[in-house]
Amino acid sequence: MNTKAMHLTTLKVNGRDYHLELSPWTSLLDTLREEIHLTGTKKGCDHGQCGACTVIVDGKRILSCLTLSVMKDGSEITTIEGIADGENLHPLQKAFIECDAFQCGYCTPGQICSAVGMLKEGKANTREEVQELMSGNLCRCGASKGIIDAIMQVKEGGSHE
Ligand code: FES
Ligand code: FES
Repeated sequence: MNTKAMHLTTLKVNGRDYHLELSPWTSLLDTLREEIHLTGTKKGCDHGQCGACTVIVDGKRILSCLTLSVMKDGSEITTIEGIADGENLHPLQKAFIECDAFQCGYCTPGQICSAVGMLKEGKANTREEVQELMSGNLCRCGASKGIIDAIMQVKEGGSHE
């Protein structure tokens, strides 16, 4: 690989700084999984169509497969590994367990990160709106109803920080 093409990039992931030499075309998804070895973020389609790779960057949910790491130099990133508060699960993680919101679990990290971002956006008022705003996160198992139940439980409980 031509090292001249490498860019020094700093990412703060789950509160920790990583200084990385990256090619300009490396996706944030590949950086998280292959450089930082945080494999909770999943690669489904790698084309922006499934939502499995959703993470939170500077407070907003994004598809990490469509994001170039060098463009996020200096950003704060939260992945599923950083969602819990130490030993305490995030309210959405608890609700996913309580509502039976996963089967194989492959889509779950992306669903939870997306739901955190969606609730912060504050645009969804009804179950239908939650469903609509979560429609970029696909579940190939039969867990879609449980996923929306879990999000509604947290939304109605008012605890989603
Ligand atoms: S892996 Fe990113 S949207 Fe499917
Ligand atoms: S739980 Fe299997 S894809 Fe969603």
